[in-house]
Amino acid sequence: MSKYKLLQGDCLELMKKLPDKSVDLVVTDPPYDVYAGKGGGAFGKRNSYQEIEFMSNGFNEVVLDELMRVMKNINIYIFCSQKQIPFLIDYFVHKHACNWNLLTWHKTNPVPACKNKYLSDTEYIFFAREKGVPIYGEYSTKKTYYVTPLNTKEKKLYNHPTVKPQMILENLIVNSSKENDVILDPFVGSGSTGVAAINNNRKFIGVELNTNYIEVANRRLAEVA
Ligand SMILES: C[S@@+](CC[C@H](N)C(=O)[O-])C[C@H]1O[C@@H](n2cnc3c(N)ncnc32)[C@H](O)[C@@H]1O
Repeated sequence: MSKYKLLQGDCLELMKKLPDKSVDLVVTDPPYDVYAGKGGGAFGKRNSYQEIEFMSNGFNEVVLDELMRVMKNINIYIFCSQKQIPFLIDYFVHKHACNWNLLTWHKTNPVPACKNKYLSDTEYIFFAREKGVPIYGEYSTKKTYYVTPLNTKEKKLYNHPTVKPQMILENLIVNSSKENDVILDPFVGSGSTGVAAINNNRKFIGVELNTNYIEVANRRLAEVA
């Protein structure tokens, strides 16, 4: 395949076009309210029971099952909220016997919270890998926490509300893949994972539903490829 491929549409539908066992690593940052209903795309149609599942789990099993099909071995980083962690542990550790780590991204200047709440100053990155899947990288790339100010500048520049810091994505890719490996991000947003993959001589497949964001991602990837 060429250096990268960006697909516009629903990832659940478009991932069906990818062959089994064709991806070395998934690095993804789904919207924290993704819901995948059977036959309804990644958002599907919710009923009240599913609404509860969606509230507590966010990232649904249907999307994960499709990712499992396309990965050569289970090797996946998922940005997530605290609420999604029990679901991810259940799926990857209890159901699929993976090794796992929880990495964190701490923001030094979060927006103030209401009276009886903690600040929203931490995001989580859940990492699951099948037994035997290696971690490469070096001392400087293998830390499990990151502390940065909010990356407001990139969010404005790429006109996307949840752009992730480039340095974190590059470390994850270097730690868990080799040159020319295929990296997949089914929720590509402004294309940050793709830029990190190309910068490190990996191949990249990204999917994005929103036509404005896919344009931004295309522009960013064309600049680095
Ligand atoms: C949290 S953002 C990703 C941001 C990205 N990490 C970045 O740095 O720009 C999640 C993205 O998933 C996209 N998305 C939501 N539902 C989708 C779906 N069903 N298929 C593909 N993309 C979807 C949203 O439009 C949004 O841009």
